[in-house]
Amino acid sequence: MLQRNEISQTDYERFRQFLEQACGIVLGEGKQYLIVSRLTKLLRDEEIPSVAELLNAIQRGHPRHLRDAVIDAMTTNETSWFRDGGPFELFEKLCLPELESRLSQSCRIWSAACSSGQEPYTISMILHDYLRKKPDSRLKNTQIMATDISNSMLALARRGIYEEYALIRGISPTRRQQFFTALDEDGRWQLNNEIKDRVQFREQNLLQSYTSLGRFDVIFCRNVLIYFSIERKIDILTRLAQTMNPQGYLFLGASETISGYSDAFEMQRTPYGVVYRRH
Ligand SMILES: C[S@@+](CC[C@H](N)C(=O)[O-])C[C@H]1O[C@@H](n2cnc3c(N)ncnc32)[C@H](O)[C@@H]1O
Repeated sequence: MLQRNEISQTDYERFRQFLEQACGIVLGEGKQYLIVSRLTKLLRDEEIPSVAELLNAIQRGHPRHLRDAVIDAMTTNETSWFRDGGPFELFEKLCLPELESRLSQSCRIWSAACSSGQEPYTISMILHDYLRKKPDSRLKNTQIMATDISNSMLALARRGIYEEYALIRGISPTRRQQFFTALDEDGRWQLNNEIKDRVQFREQNLLQSYTSLGRFDVIFCRNVLIYFSIERKIDILTRLAQTMNPQGYLFLGASETISGYSDAFEMQRTPYGVVYRRH
């Protein structure tokens, strides 16, 4: 098994540099234990003896899946349904009515680091309930684009099948009945098509160009900027602003802020929390 003290300072620096350039994640000083805990299995399965050999193999570009597997292992995919509550109340109670009154047609929503799908599917559930009350709404054809760098997370999200333990993190018994169907005796639940079909999943590295995604009225980019350097934050927020229509809404995670990083947005404080509006 890979040991912490087997990773030389040189290999650690090389690995940090690779990770930052590949996906933006900044590993602090002395985090060798993270490499050990997250990559030991991969190294064993791939029969790669050390971090140095792993980096050499990635640099040679062979085998091709190795780079993705390392990024997959090093990213944190923690998520839940209706995470933090407030932002989704804000979306339901303030954004949707405002978008309805301002836009002449459906809006476009982007969940920009969607992990296993809970965030975009939460948005879809809210939209579903909103449209049930307002069947003639102009927002009725609204689509949600959901992206992530991790293909394994995207595969889980596309399947829309969740274990009991994932469901209880934010799904009430009422919503479970409304939106899920019991799949088997192992306690797995299938998300209903009416919620799934509104969400389109796609691979997107936030460090790369967004121009092919089109423009959005609402972007959720939550709990991912925290892993990035100041320069990356500035760059990503600048490019997010460029993909948004004027007056669009940007939602960040509870511990994230734009202040000092972008002046393309105005902070709006509401009873449900903070949202950023594109100028
Ligand atoms: C902690 S999860 C947040 C999920 C969801 N937004 C939420 O708030 O519950 C962070 C996600 O960001 C993704 N991620 C990390 N680096 C990324 C990058 N450079 N581009 C796109 N997604 C990235 C990870 O794969 C992971 O699924």
